[in-house]
Formats: sequence, C-alpha cells, structure tokens
Amino acid sequence: MPTIVPETPKDSHTIHEVVRAAFESDTEPSLVDGIRNSSAFIPELSLVARDTNDSTVIGHVMFSRLRVGNSDEGPLGLVLAPLAVAPSRQGEGVGSQLVYVGLDRATELGYRFVVLHGPPEYYHRFGFSPAERFGFENPFDTPSREFMAAELVASGLEGMSGNLKYPEAFKHL
Ligand SMILES: CC(C)(COP(=O)(O)OP(=O)(O)OC[C@H]1O[C@@H](n2cnc3c(N)ncnc32)[C@H](O)[C@@H]1OP(=O)(O)O)[C@@H](O)C(=O)NCCC(=O)NCCS
Repeated sequence: MPTIVPETPKDSHTIHEVVRAAFESDTEPSLVDGIRNSSAFIPELSLVARDTNDSTVIGHVMFSRLRVGNSDEGPLGLVLAPLAVAPSRQGEGVGSQLVYVGLDRATELGYRFVVLHGPPEYYHRFGFSPAERFGFENPFDTPSREFMAAELVASGLEGMSGNLKYPEAFKHL
C-alpha cells in the first residue's frame, strides 16, 4: 500500500502530470493548480499517494473549501475534486486509500460534509449518496446521478440546503 501524505511544494509538477495522465486532459490539472492558488486551498487536504519503494507520486486527491448559501460562517463543507491515480497503478486500491484518508483528515479538521461529481458506482463505497437528497441543486452541467454528498459527522448536512458556492477555479471547467 502507498503512503498517503499532504503534498509539498516540490510535488506540484508531478501532481500536474499524474492528473493529466489519469484524465487524458488539461482541464483537471488546471483545476488543481487553480485551487492551489486560491483561498479555497487546504494544504492538509491535498494528498499524494507515494510509492513505498521510491516515494514517487502515484496518485493525488484534492479537497477544497465550499460555502453554502450566503453564509459567511466558517467553511464547513468541502468539494472532493479531482481524484487521480497514475494509469499504470490503477486498480490497486490507491484511489480508495486516498479517499479514505482524506475523509478521515477532513473529519479531524472539523469539516461537516463533502460533495463531488463522479461515478456513483465508485463513490457509493465511501458513503456518498445523491446530493439532491439533501436539498442541493447540481450547479454544473453534469449528470445529476453523479452529484453526490456525504456527511462527515451525524447530521452534518442538516439545515445546510441552499446554493453551494464552489471555489472560483471551478468556473473555468
Ligand atoms: C477512478 C480512479 C481514481 C480510481 O482509482 P483506483 O486506484 O484505480 O481505484 P481503486 O483501486 O481504489 O478501486 C478499484 C475499483 O474502482 C472501480 N472503478 C475505477 N474507476 C471507476 C469508474 N470510473 N467508475 C466506476 N468504478 C470505477 C473499479 O471497477 C474497481 O471496482 P471493484 O473494487 O468493485 O473491483 C482512477 O481509476 C483514475 O484516476 N481514473 C481516471 C480519472 C478519474 O476518472 N477520476 C475520478 C472521477 S472524479
């Protein structure tokens, strides 16, 4: 199993390359760079998976700050995006490890919920279910079944319905 740790400044370039290779696109690596350069960035929740043998970065996940409605209250929620594993290392449990560790760290840091846009077949296993169930509307032009949410604490989404305000970097998607 790889080691899951927060990214360091030296990892930026490799993360960019791993994310680009996984998605075969420049969109997701640009999202990572955009979030990193914004106030939505949480260094402790941009995690890399390092190969146990040579410490190479073989996967990455980013959780960034999300706001709900017009509340300027502390940032309670997160958006998980993107999640990427180097193509040659997919199917080994690296992605799952990144998500589980990320959700644990996010809970320790006091966040209450996480939303994401991705395949339900993958994300159900981590406790995600349709976000519309919690009263959220999908702000993006993605299939509604892929818009998912998970509570990190009991009733973490209670009274939270309203417009989700994603980090600015998501506007360029
Ligand atoms: C999706 C991704 C992050 C999964 O990471 P991984 O390390 O390969 O996954 P794991 O080894 O933890 O889990 C493997 C399981 O995930 C499933 N899975 C992988 N990609 C999937 C997808 N796009 N949709 C549904 N299920 C998927 C596999 O079928 C396998 O299922 P099983 O456990 O029932 O056999 C990785 O394949 C990847 O980087 N893909 C390209 C980028 C991407 O699509 N990112 C996520 C979308 S937000």
